[in-house]
Amino acid sequence: MNQYDDCWLRYERVADDDRLASYRRRCRHAYVAEKSPECGAIRDELRRALPGLLAEKPHLWQHPPTTVDGFLAVGTPDDMAMIAESVPGDDVADLEDGGFLVRSVTWNGADCLVVTASTDRGLVYGTFHLLRLLSVGEPIDDLDVREEPAYANRLLNQWDTPFHRSVERGYAGESIFDWERLPDLRSRYEDYARLLASVGINGIVLNNVNTTKPPRASANAAFDAFEGWQLLESRRLEDLTGLASLFRRYGIRPYLSVNFASPMLVGDLDTADPLEDDVQEWWREKADEIYDLVPDFGGFLVKADSEGQAGPYDYDRDHVDGANAIAQAVVPHGGRVWWRAFVYGSHEDRAVQAHDTFEPLDGEFADNVTVQIKNGPVDFQPREPASTLFGAMPKTDLGLELQITQEYTGQGVHATSHLPMWKEVLEFDTRADGEGTPVSSLFRGDGEGVVGVGNVGEDYNWTGHYLSQSNLYAFGRAAWDPDRSAEAITREWVRQTFDDDEDIVDTVTEILHDSWEACIDYETGGLGLMHMMHNGEEYLENHYYPSPAEWPGYHGASEDGIGVDRTESGSGYVTQYREPVAERYGSVETCPEKFLLFFHHLPWDHELEDGTTVVQRLYDNCFAGVEEVERLRERWRSLEGRVDERRYRHVAERFDEQVAQAERWRDVLTAYFREHSGIPDERGRARDG
Ligand code: GCU
Repeated sequence: MNQYDDCWLRYERVADDDRLASYRRRCRHAYVAEKSPECGAIRDELRRALPGLLAEKPHLWQHPPTTVDGFLAVGTPDDMAMIAESVPGDDVADLEDGGFLVRSVTWNGADCLVVTASTDRGLVYGTFHLLRLLSVGEPIDDLDVREEPAYANRLLNQWDTPFHRSVERGYAGESIFDWERLPDLRSRYEDYARLLASVGINGIVLNNVNTTKPPRASANAAFDAFEGWQLLESRRLEDLTGLASLFRRYGIRPYLSVNFASPMLVGDLDTADPLEDDVQEWWREKADEIYDLVPDFGGFLVKADSEGQAGPYDYDRDHVDGANAIAQAVVPHGGRVWWRAFVYGSHEDRAVQAHDTFEPLDGEFADNVTVQIKNGPVDFQPREPASTLFGAMPKTDLGLELQITQEYTGQGVHATSHLPMWKEVLEFDTRADGEGTPVSSLFRGDGEGVVGVGNVGEDYNWTGHYLSQSNLYAFGRAAWDPDRSAEAITREWVRQTFDDDEDIVDTVTEILHDSWEACIDYETGGLGLMHMMHNGEEYLENHYYPSPAEWPGYHGASEDGIGVDRTESGSGYVTQYREPVAERYGSVETCPEKFLLFFHHLPWDHELEDGTTVVQRLYDNCFAGVEEVERLRERWRSLEGRVDERRYRHVAERFDEQVAQAERWRDVLTAYFREHSGIPDERGRARDG
């Protein structure tokens, strides 16, 4: 990459001389099996990476060298005798698809490194893993790494609308995908595929889940120009082939978001009723056409009966009928339908609806349908309790949907790491199978996995804010291994992206780690409140500025108190959890403070455990959030002169903006709390609105 920022694939010279010497001994010569598109990509990656890391040109052999002191070999045991002879076959044979081994071995008296796997995709991941070890300066003389992905599917959802190139909830410029010119390829696609594969992502949904213009003005006005469903038109499908072959080199399968009414919109049927034979036949023919062009096409993502998108309810059918009708079409090709559970509108408390709708359908979805569920019951808020659907549908393949892009957490301006939020959800004990059934233990089937709504765009630095690159990185790494600590993931990102100077690593890691709680404090006051954002027409204002008065239903502020009663006597949402969670959250005494007002409507002067009142805690948290951002800004400023000027300035300027915005949030929220409660801040800080 040179036209755009390299993100974490910088491959800079290894600083430590002893380390460099040991890396050169084993990696200045390399041999990669010559057979598949994936192996071609690996060879290209080594050609890019090794000259930078080793500060000398590697020698890439046409066959395993026999006359050198050491070399790196990448291939399956079947590809070369050197690997078959140095790694026991059984060690490789039982690796999951995508799994790999990286080992230091001695072969013919030479110090070698082996990257091996049972599939070529595994070789890609193994190579990126080795390059990561070299980039962060790990010793490699005694390597014995065995890794397998926790989840079979690690998918990215682009919310890009092709042709006019807007990205819904994108804050990094327009879409990187230039459909106008497809099937011609831009070098940027390859760089993107490299970034994704380097963190283990193995599928990409290329277009927005909203395949018709959404009913509310939530995105660019340019939505009018092209609608995503048109991608299924025959003349568009050929455009996919180039992208598909490029992504194939990196083990990434392409998918498309489709409109439920496609048989009418794209085809000429007068119904999309999923139980009609000709509708099902239409989907089969469409699937055959796609798979003819792209044999490894992953399948379809569907947002149905949600925010104005068409769905089976239009025909008095249910989600099972709808999903299965499309799924049958891709069965012969090994494809899958990802069917979103993001539905609301019919219940006064929207949190209740997804579980109410989907849980009764457990066991009825076809084997190749995955129900894709957002992490929380509302909508990617700064903090939400885990969705009650996790663990509630044991007979259905499920996917966990996370938002990488920072729709509600400061967009392209605020430094907000989502990783601690994801960890909180992954660690939540659903009790689905008794104590010790965390969310992370679900999604382990072949048709299950983790999905992230992407955050890249045309900006030079890909993600709008340099520090937001960490969210993309962390998504992939957490989807590969949800048990890896947030700190370990963040530290390795900083080392590769900035520097391995311990102080820089500590500082940036601390900033990212603490950024999430700070955002919760100033954007919500903590205590489980949410959704107090402005819903303006202007794209970059939408969900960015504070506007609690627009959303009374979400936070329940009134003269008598604040919070939403989701107990049994309220909306009942809490009863959707298993015991003892339902009881713990359902009682004011035992509900964790961080979720208190999500589950309970309480008087403003209700006393918390330490004797502070609810309203005072809200004031305190809003002020603490701003102070925390100021502290994090200072931490960043301490890096002046030690991080390159371009990135230093960029982040420093955004921190100034973030502090100003955090103050605005604090002032609007505290004035709002003051106005409704009639109780002043006992420390005299909160102003009247
Ligand atoms: C949120 C978001 C929308 C998006 C929707 C979804 O409501 O604001 O832009 O379309 O989520 O997940 O489908």
